[in-house]
Amino acid sequence: MSTRVPPGDFAGTSPHWLRQPEDVNALVPVLWSRTAEKVDGELHVGGLPVAQVVANVNTPAYLLDEEDFRARARAFRDAFSEYDVYYAGKAFLCTAVARWVAEEGLCLDVCSDGELTVALRAGVDPARIGYHGNNKTAMELRRAVHAGVGRIIVDSFHEIERVADVAAQLIDAGTIAAPQPVMVRVTAGVEAHTHEFIATAHEDQKFGFSIAAGDAFEAARRVAAAESLDLRGLHSHIGSQIFDTSGWEVSARRVLALHARIGAELGQVMPELDLGGGFGIAYTTQDDPADPAVLAEQITAIVDHECRALGLERPHLSIEPGRAIVGSSMCTVYTVGTVKQVSLDGGQTRTYVSVDGGMSDNIRTALYDADYSCTLASRHSAATPVLARVVGKHCESGDIVVKDEFLPGDIAPGDLIAVPGTGAYGRSMASNYNHALRPPVVAVKDGAYQVVVRRETVEDLLATDVG
Ligand code: LLP
Repeated sequence: MSTRVPPGDFAGTSPHWLRQPEDVNALVPVLWSRTAEKVDGELHVGGLPVAQVVANVNTPAYLLDEEDFRARARAFRDAFSEYDVYYAGKAFLCTAVARWVAEEGLCLDVCSDGELTVALRAGVDPARIGYHGNNKTAMELRRAVHAGVGRIIVDSFHEIERVADVAAQLIDAGTIAAPQPVMVRVTAGVEAHTHEFIATAHEDQKFGFSIAAGDAFEAARRVAAAESLDLRGLHSHIGSQIFDTSGWEVSARRVLALHARIGAELGQVMPELDLGGGFGIAYTTQDDPADPAVLAEQITAIVDHECRALGLERPHLSIEPGRAIVGSSMCTVYTVGTVKQVSLDGGQTRTYVSVDGGMSDNIRTALYDADYSCTLASRHSAATPVLARVVGKHCESGDIVVKDEFLPGDIAPGDLIAVPGTGAYGRSMASNYNHALRPPVVAVKDGAYQVVVRRETVEDLLATDVG
């Protein structure tokens, strides 16, 4: 058990929500995947000591708890059993994960030709794929329609024309037999309580057709009028990392009112409605995510209430969780390289712990001011906790992995640090900044590990540099 430092010693240097833990070695379960545990101070995931895995694959590495991923996917599928659940592949996608998603009975949301390629390679049924994006090219649309994707979510008037042309050509050529199913992405004008860059339903941003301005109605009219398209329904995604269902309440009300108007004025009874993703996860002890069952109950009640008020039959619903499935399934393991005490105003110090990755494998701290937590993963420590900042090895001071965390005061080069909650938008937004090699994703399960995405090599980097 660590010695506790009197509260107040960190005043001014630590955020208000951060409490010195009773035991700095212990995991906070809500932050970790379900098989994560400390055994004699060593972090184990999937029945394996993390130190043993990285002794083979090196650091940094993303460890993906397969059992946890599958359990979260199933939890959404079971809680939203009357819905179609589309896993949002942008959060993290590779062939193995696309396969797990299909095996667990979920559909898949892709938003680029690359993601579609991975999905098809994994053998995902194209009819269970939804295709997103605010600027899909004619080439991308042709490939998607040709592949037989179950729905294309249109986002602009230009795209409606583009996809109608592509589908008409493929119908004429006898390549596809029926009109292409399409959903219309609408902007409900909701202010979701999340970072500006990841909120998507307020008016002044690039996604969707505005309901308030009348564009959404006009988009539905144009899709309905195109013989090569089949208008399936409306789509609304209000943002990401959201905890409070009040945003969905407002958006469902506005979207269903439009759904009803389209039925009444265009004679188009649309069979479906997609409410998007955005369900929050815990990155630190500040966050309190809801259980999928609770979300399902609340969101369904909201939709049913609105449908009753509008005299509508409930359309077949779908949702698109990404982060809430993969986010907590992964952690990133780093090796500590240097430790430095930095004096702060007021005579306090902050311990800077530099690790062998950084903003190239997790840009979220720099981009969204995101909070993370971490733990010493390779040993138990009885040292007094210190307030630490875990930073990367890149050439800028904003290269921070974990802004504030208590770590044992004897943290030293060679120690392993694990950061939970890096599954969503970690590897998928990773870069080669400073010519870093993007880390592998290693699936762990039942005491065995499998590299599902290998580490990049210098040869990979040089392959695109034609000299
Ligand atoms: N559906 C649509 C149409 C979306 O645009 C997104 C996310 C999702 C579903 C999945 O949202 P999720 O359930 O994962 O929150 N890079 C940011 C998040 C960007 C989200 C983009 N769209 C981050 O790291 O927080």
